[in-house]
Amino acid sequence: MKRGKPVLLLVLTAALSAAPLAWCQDAVMTINSESLGKHERPLVRFTHEKHAEVVECVTCHHDFDQYYNNTGPQEVKCSECHVASPASGDNPVPLRLAMHTNCKTCHRGMMAKGHKSGPVTCGACHVRGAGAQEPPAPQAAEGKKP
Ligand code: HEC
Ligand code: HEC
Ligand code: HEC
Ligand code: HEC
Repeated sequence: MKRGKPVLLLVLTAALSAAPLAWCQDAVMTINSESLGKHERPLVRFTHEKHAEVVECVTCHHDFDQYYNNTGPQEVKCSECHVASPASGDNPVPLRLAMHTNCKTCHRGMMAKGHKSGPVTCGACHVRGAGAQEPPAPQAAEGKKP
């Protein structure tokens, strides 16, 4: 279980620290990775700013070196490193799994400890009516919602 431990550590780091808010992202974003093409499920609405208040940036915006040390933050899209269907030589963790593992591991872990947490069921994240099956967002101008 080479990969179990880092996730646990990331979750602990998250629970124990607050993050600075010195950046200018939309407070709430709709995650819509272009590389996943037309989405099967409704798009996920993500309260980025609220999360950043309780979770350190590097917990999500990470970069693991060959010794599995977290050398983040990179502050770039997950899809810069995680592709939809990795071929040999690509990062082996597919984008969808990367997102699911990141989001759900934390939500589950915090729930288990009795903390306020986020959803773990499909429909609670992929909320119907919240932009189902939209094509990937075009590159929005800085500061504008796609
Ligand atoms: C904690 C929130 C969360 C939960 C719970 C969750 N997902 Fe997702 N899911 C995401 C995010 C975020 C993405 C990445 C979307 C992107 O990058 O565009 C994603 C991507 C996907 C995708 C690929 C994009 C698409 O719609 O074709 C599928 C399929 C999917 N999820 C199905 C599921 C299913 C089935 C479940 C329940 C077993 C589930 N998800 C639970 C957050 C969640
Ligand atoms: C709980 C996880 C999480 C935390 C904590 C978090 N982010 Fe994010 N952030 C995301 C996700 C998911 C996206 C959407 C990435 C994508 O579309 O691939 C994102 C997007 C961004 C983007 C836009 C990237 C782009 O190119 O469009 C920036 C910049 C960013 N975050 C900076 C930060 C900073 C700075 C912090 C800490 C103050 C932070 N984030 C905290 C998960 C997080
Ligand atoms: C700069 C490159 C880079 C970016 C950007 C990046 N990752 Fe990763 N990620 C990696 C590498 C490298 C690994 C390790 C892959 C391996 O197992 O060899 C990894 C692994 C993971 C894992 C598996 C961890 C485990 O212990 O099993 C998850 C989950 C993950 N990334 C989620 C995300 C999410 C969510 C984002 C965006 C917020 C993101 N990653 C952005 C490089 C990146
Ligand atoms: C390291 C921990 C952590 C990670 C990673 C994380 N979350 Fe959360 N999430 C939380 C906590 C804590 C709450 C409860 C916040 C509150 O209500 O005070 C939450 C709440 C939520 C909620 C409930 C509505 C809201 O925003 O208050 C949604 C939806 C959600 N998260 C989606 C996501 C998605 C999508 C991802 C992955 C891209 C993600 N979360 C990653 C900790 C995390």
